[in-house]
Amino acid sequence: MPTITAREVAVIGAGAAGLVAARHLRREGHSVVVFERESQVGGTWIYTNKTEPDPIGVDQTRPVVQSSLYASLRTNLPRESMSLREYPFVAKKSGHRDPRRFPGHREVLEYLKDYASEFAIGELVRFDTEVSRVSQRENGKWEVRSIQRKEDEEHIEEAFDAVVVCTGHYTDPRIAQIPGADRWPRKQIHSHNYRIPEPFRDQVSCELDLLWVVVIIGSSASAVDISREVASVAKEVHIASWSTSNEEGQNLPGYDNIWLRPMVESANEDGSISFQHGFKIFADIILYCTGYKYNFPFLDTKGIVTVDDNRVGPLYKHVFPPSLAPWLSFVGLPWKIAPFPQFELQSEWIAGILSGRISLPLKDEMMKDVESFYASLEASGVPKRYTHNMTGYQFEYNDWIATQCGCPKTEEWRKKMYNAASLSRKERPETYRDEWVDGDLVLQANQDFMKQLEKVDM
Ligand SMILES: Cc1cc2nc3c(=O)[nH]c(=O)nc-3n(C[C@H](O)[C@H](O)[C@H](O)COP(=O)(O)OP(=O)(O)OC[C@H]3O[C@@H](n4cnc5c(N)ncnc54)[C@H](O)[C@@H]3O)c2cc1C
Ligand SMILES: *[C@@H]1O[C@H](CO)[C@@H](O)[C@H](O)[C@H]1NC(C)=O
Ligand SMILES: *[C@@H]1O[C@H](CO)[C@@H](O)[C@H](O)[C@H]1NC(C)=O
Repeated sequence: MPTITAREVAVIGAGAAGLVAARHLRREGHSVVVFERESQVGGTWIYTNKTEPDPIGVDQTRPVVQSSLYASLRTNLPRESMSLREYPFVAKKSGHRDPRRFPGHREVLEYLKDYASEFAIGELVRFDTEVSRVSQRENGKWEVRSIQRKEDEEHIEEAFDAVVVCTGHYTDPRIAQIPGADRWPRKQIHSHNYRIPEPFRDQVSCELDLLWVVVIIGSSASAVDISREVASVAKEVHIASWSTSNEEGQNLPGYDNIWLRPMVESANEDGSISFQHGFKIFADIILYCTGYKYNFPFLDTKGIVTVDDNRVGPLYKHVFPPSLAPWLSFVGLPWKIAPFPQFELQSEWIAGILSGRISLPLKDEMMKDVESFYASLEASGVPKRYTHNMTGYQFEYNDWIATQCGCPKTEEWRKKMYNAASLSRKERPETYRDEWVDGDLVLQANQDFMKQLEKVDM
């Protein structure tokens, strides 16, 4: 048996990733402090009607609103797929809970709060405390500077053996570069600051004649939802995306005021928008559903870890910078995945490595692995900014980590259900949340959950 060493670990963020990291670090025997700038757990899942003053998020000095949820948001994964491996996301009967299979956002927050209280994670969290700087001292320890926002701002500096970064990556808008956008005279916002469709209703007459012409850029999950919602109150919605091959575009089936258009070519000073192949319209607003940027403004690694065209690197298996491993790590960077169960595996791996129970390869070997991963992306023509796009291999990755940790691999129903959900979301974007065809997988999931519930007293 290797000796287990307990470490002092700082976790930054008490969203889903930070809660899971804290749980597994403490279970391993480490002492944990979680820094959280909000006054409750849940991160992204804390809905707020607040938005940022700069609607497209270019101004880097703006006050930050963490959450990008819109009021009507329901999950785009079924609850069984989102479920933590250790703590089933089952429908609860009590009045204020949402038992649907694809619940509204409030239900996810309730679930994360339940998880935090089940494992008493809240007692590890310092709320209203923002980490302003993380840097390494000469003796190798990490210095964490934080600001506690009580009556007067208290600045604190502390040393930790290790830092686990869990600050999320759906907060800092990525904007498509459109020629002329800076001189376009109308409104532009990013989906990060979209909450409700009402502002898109005609504001002058307040009658039912709908006047807004909206151009939406992007074809992400939020673009699909938001375009339909906005179309219910606006005159026209034009969705611009690279995937529309038709010259002028076409109506979205089932909607007479939504059009799928080619990509925008330019925004013009007269208020018009030109699409590729020459189609042109006058519009009132551009809504960017163009995703987010990784950003760690507090992290000072003296250039060892960088964010370059949305690649956070170099990172071994999306978690450890080889030359700082295992003392600095990241939970939750990959996207196009079921996040919560992956957070658990990454966290167990980090916890076990920090204690010495699990070993990492030598730095050079990790670096070679990273380089060959980057080379393989390049060879298949994948742009840098998709480095953490895990489409098609999340379960292979999760199973690899599970093997390192000596814990169970992903259940078969989870793999099948994720794929079934991805397919039905694509095929039936309006109805997939309320009608499904994978009832057999739901049964299997619930059988597993029942066994799990006997272990955890919910
Ligand atoms: C619109 C939208 C829809 C989504 N839908 C789904 C879905 O249906 N199903 C699903 O599984 N996932 C979904 N996701 C993904 C979602 O991001 C993950 O489920 C998960 O919430 C990510 O958790 P996280 O802890 O990594 O990040 P976050 O939830 O963003 O948490 C990060 C935390 O770090 C804190 N923090 C940041 N910086 C600092 C600092 N300097 N100091 C102190 N604290 C700090 C923040 O306040 C926050 O609490 C969706 C995301 C978005 C944006
Ligand atoms: C925003 O939310 C706060 C508290 O949640 C509420 O008091 C306020 O009325 C809301 N504002 C608007 C404009 O809806
Ligand atoms: C993510 O990767 C998959 C598979 O490589 C690719 O098909 C897809 O277009 C990528 N998604 C995005 C949004 O880049």
